Amino acid sequence: MSKSESSDTQFFNTFSLVLGGLIFVAIVIFGVARNVGEATQSENEMQDPMHVKEVAQNVAPFAHEAVAGQDNSALAALSAPKADGGAADLPASGEAAYTKVCSACHGSGVNGAPKVGDHAAWGPRIAQGKDTLYAHALAGKGNMPAKGGTTWPDATVRMAVDYMVSLNK
Ligand code: HEC
Repeated sequence: MSKSESSDTQFFNTFSLVLGGLIFVAIVIFGVARNVGEATQSENEMQDPMHVKEVAQNVAPFAHEAVAGQDNSALAALSAPKADGGAADLPASGEAAYTKVCSACHGSGVNGAPKVGDHAAWGPRIAQGKDTLYAHALAGKGNMPAKGGTTWPDATVRMAVDYMVSLNK
């Protein structure tokens, strides 16, 4: 065996040893990191809002019952009608109310509904006075359904009338 050959072998052996050692250390560090991460990761998952909501949904009782002496306001929201005019999506302004429901007929003049912007159609109606307009909007008149077909409180319907009148002045 020549001298250079033996030093090559020696280098190769040392190099393999060091490389093997580094790989081993890397694997150990990887394992430790996984272990440490696992604990925090599952903790985060438990606190995830989506997860919390899902669990709450899954463990919620099927029936919702009012319990005497307790706050049952959440029940009202559950049983509230979801259709137009439900208390939850009550329009906040006359304009919103008009856009949502009244405009369906009054925007285009369906079935003889006085069209918004048609001053000739609105003039005589406005001349009746607001109280009459309110009364007709609330109770209905001819093809005009009571409250425009909604279950809104009177005040909301009046706001919508005010808004429509303001468009036709
Ligand atoms: C299904 C169609 C329809 C919807 C929806 C509707 N209206 Fe009407 N509305 C009419 C018709 C048709 C008339 C004309 C009635 C008549 O004079 O015979 C009318 C008339 C009116 C009048 C005039 C009443 C009068 O004294 O001359 C007011 C005010 C009014 N509507 C308000 C509203 C409001 C406010 C809403 C929304 C909450 C609404 N309407 C939604 C069809 C509708």
